[in-house]
Amino acid sequence: MSPQPKPPSASVTQMTEYVLPTHANAMGNVFGGQILAWMDLCAAMCAERHCGTIAVTAGIDELAFEHPVKIGQFVRLEGRVTAAFKSSVEIEVRVTGEDGATGVTWPCVKAYLTFVAIGPVGVPCPVPPLRSEGPDDEARRAAAEERRTRRLRARAESR
Ligand SMILES: CC(C)(COP(=O)(O)OP(=O)(O)OC[C@H]1O[C@@H](n2cnc3c(N)ncnc32)[C@H](O)[C@@H]1OP(=O)(O)O)[C@@H](O)C(=O)NCCC(=O)NCCS
Repeated sequence: MSPQPKPPSASVTQMTEYVLPTHANAMGNVFGGQILAWMDLCAAMCAERHCGTIAVTAGIDELAFEHPVKIGQFVRLEGRVTAAFKSSVEIEVRVTGEDGATGVTWPCVKAYLTFVAIGPVGVPCPVPPLRSEGPDDEARRAAAEERRTRRLRARAESR
């Protein structure tokens, strides 16, 4: 039986992390690798909610850190499925810095992560189609299709 379509809103995943000294470099800014780990976690939960199975990270598109987040500030993450393919989903994760005391926020980084759903026998399995809830979802899906085309081409060329 084919999995039932699900809207992106059913799997939106939000996380907030407090930046401690153990997360930071000598300048007091959170390590890029730490942010990446939180992004991977946020996307993994989002993917699992959509797919209804465990899902593994297959790839992460390029990411550029726009503004740092410092010790004592908050890192807010939001993951959303942009497109569902056969056994994979693309998740957009947006990361925002927040100064808890003032409420000021700023963009930190954004990336697209591809997760592959893994079925009970340990191989990729079909994912539920994504049911659009409006023009914003359509636009996200169209952009995701273009990124997938580029990704598949790059993957084929590297073999
Ligand atoms: C991801 C993984 C399951 C894909 O397995 P595979 O045998 O290559 O499977 P397939 O070639 O049939 O591809 C399955 C899907 O993965 C996608 N995929 C595979 N590698 C990908 C990559 N590098 N980037 C994006 N998508 C990828 C394919 O496009 C396909 O998607 P679709 O079914 O929606 O069209 C496998 O490579 C794996 O287990 N990798 C390690 C994952 C892991 O351990 N992650 C944790 C971090 S190290």
